[in-house]
Amino acid sequence: MTIKKVAVIGAGMMGKGIAQVCTNIEEVEVCLYDVQEVDIYPDIEKSFNQLGAKGVFSKEEIDERMSRIHFSTDLKEAAGEADLVFECVFENLELKQSIFKQLEETCKEHAILATNTSVMSPTQISEKMKTKARFVGTHFWNPAYLIPLVEVVIADGTSFEVAQKVIDFLNRAGKKAVLCKKDVPGFIANRMQHALWREAISIVEHGIADAKTVDEAVKYSFGLRLPQLGPIENADMVGTDLTYNIHDYVLNYLEDSKRPSPVLTDLKDKGDLGFKTGKGFMEYTKEEIQASKDNLNEYLIKMIYGK
Ligand SMILES: NC(=O)c1ccc[n+]([C@@H]2O[C@H](COP(=O)([O-])OP(=O)(O)OC[C@H]3O[C@@H](n4cnc5c(N)ncnc54)[C@H](O)[C@@H]3O)[C@@H](O)[C@H]2O)c1
Repeated sequence: MTIKKVAVIGAGMMGKGIAQVCTNIEEVEVCLYDVQEVDIYPDIEKSFNQLGAKGVFSKEEIDERMSRIHFSTDLKEAAGEADLVFECVFENLELKQSIFKQLEETCKEHAILATNTSVMSPTQISEKMKTKARFVGTHFWNPAYLIPLVEVVIADGTSFEVAQKVIDFLNRAGKKAVLCKKDVPGFIANRMQHALWREAISIVEHGIADAKTVDEAVKYSFGLRLPQLGPIENADMVGTDLTYNIHDYVLNYLEDSKRPSPVLTDLKDKGDLGFKTGKGFMEYTKEEIQASKDNLNEYLIKMIYGK
């Protein structure tokens, strides 16, 4: 079965980004579904235009891609003929479970049903389904139209053939799809990302360095080589014997708290919410916040498209 029709359930930030990604495959038509009327086109056009401005796509290519993205508030119309469905509604277990029950009733038997949950267990999300073999987790990263990684997560009952079909589809759409063989909290990449954030916050908490210095220490050292050299290959590069000796000594001193840091808790409780309020671990003006977002997208486009 070739995947030609895709439905995306939930026309929010991730849903719109995922719809955009699907148009990277020429023959694919996408329909976004939402409970409320959503004007999806301005946001999608803005993201496409960002790539257009860098010469990744021409105006004609953007128009052609936009013409293959549709919207409906009728689930049957959006997903009834779909070969693949990405669920992107709010992060709420009961809501997601009820969506998958509805999808089982609405979609064709061959349709693959995927959840884009960030942190919930795909197995729990599929608990009320009768046809679990066709269910799979697909964890996209934000912004979905730029970040290549998608973690394809095997839930209890997922067929490996279904997971492989989704991986093939995502790779054809220009993503880097990887298999997460177990349904564990944080899947693969967020487990590593938050191990780093826990240590970073702990260094601030213990007065070892201030917040800005912590970020600089990453950006000017191992952060630079990470896109080229992952931690496992790096361990092999320096030698498993040296890695062993370092871990044997330093692991005794690394943060291993099972709870969020008291510093983080305090900021949250005081309402210092970061970019949302202009103050978190550090302070930001409105211009600095906008520049941070713009610079990140520019950087990602350069890294991914070389433009
Ligand atoms: N934001 C991120 O960085 C990120 C990254 C990866 C995964 N995710 C996950 O993706 C999912 C969507 O996140 P988002 O940031 O796009 O959320 P969002 O709030 O931007 O969008 C959610 C959309 O779902 C719609 N919705 C709510 N109930 C619905 C229903 N019953 N049927 C159809 N649509 C319904 C809402 O109207 C809204 O448009 C969540 O599970 C989230 O955890 C988010």
